[in-house]
Amino acid sequence: MFDEKLLDSEIKRMFDGIAFAKEPAGLYDPLRYMIEIGGKRIRPRLCLTAYALFAEGGLAGAGTPILEPACGLEVFHTFTLLHDDIMDHSALRRGQETVWKKWNEDTAILSGDVMLIDAYQRIAKAPADKLDAVLKLFSDTAAEVCEGQQYDMEFESVPEVQMPAYEQMIKLKTAVLLACSAKMGAIIAGAPEAECEALYKYGLLLGMAFQVADDYLDAYGDEKVFGKPIGGDILNCKKSWLTVRTCEKASDKHSFLEMFSADADTPKAKAAKIAAVMSIYNKYGIGEDARAEVRRYSDLAIEAVAGFEPWQREALARFADSLVARAK
Ligand code: IPE
Ligand code: IPE
Ligand code: MG
Ligand code: MG
Ligand code: MG
Repeated sequence: MFDEKLLDSEIKRMFDGIAFAKEPAGLYDPLRYMIEIGGKRIRPRLCLTAYALFAEGGLAGAGTPILEPACGLEVFHTFTLLHDDIMDHSALRRGQETVWKKWNEDTAILSGDVMLIDAYQRIAKAPADKLDAVLKLFSDTAAEVCEGQQYDMEFESVPEVQMPAYEQMIKLKTAVLLACSAKMGAIIAGAPEAECEALYKYGLLLGMAFQVADDYLDAYGDEKVFGKPIGGDILNCKKSWLTVRTCEKASDKHSFLEMFSADADTPKAKAAKIAAVMSIYNKYGIGEDARAEVRRYSDLAIEAVAGFEPWQREALARFADSLVARAK
């Protein structure tokens, strides 16, 4: 049996009760700030879901060996956001000021660093007989996220990116962490190897869907709901899914790319650039294409667990649907 109410209450308990060191406040306050604002917490949710599908007694019988590692995944993710917001010059996150903006860049770097260490400490509380596998999975994943972030940055200044290179970049920066979250839950539950791998694949494909949806919402979302600045990817010359797809479809690709790579400095120039790029996206139906791509990846994710029991498949399909339908 899969008890979603219990899952919700475990997630709430996990983050309500989270404690970080008090001193120096300048180092730890940003951690409290980010965790208290709270995001969607999909990575710990996915980890607990995978665990509940295979652990004897589900979440209730856990003796909770999964809670600290699952929490560590969210802390790790939040660390990547602290640094990502510096790299992307983003002033808004989860509807609030970003850490570099509220404090300063040095604080966001160092609080991010200590957050990564905190994440490792929590992951390292996995049961002793699973610890080697869990730490290897997590360390490989954490390095891949950095690799993906590097490609993301490098792509800002190359004229054009092809779809396979884009897909590799988002696989690294985003999808592997969802894959890791699902697989870690399964490993700690003692699931058989084949099921652990199927959940890795499920998480990876869902992560691809998740980043394409993020790119879509960056252009088409509602800032109040999304909690991040709309048009940020356009102003950063990010090679988002929308940009890459436009290059595949547009007859006037070269003029699009010229306009896309131009800097916009003043508020007026920024608004004009966003409007011009959006009008090309709209002309080629890129928003609809992105939504179809999110659905395609999500369907593939569900296919990856086709061999599971019906109740397990249903829980994973519900999780996938909640991500596909998201507006934030
Ligand atoms: C944002 O992740 C970064 C991406 C990988 C797109 P989330 O959309 O999960 O952010 P929060 O944690 O809910 O704020
Ligand atoms: C984020 O990609 C990936 C990581 C943080 C590792 P984005 O830069 O698109 O994420 P948001 O949109 O700022 O949340
Ligand atoms: Mg980024
Ligand atoms: Mg960003
Ligand atoms: Mg984004």
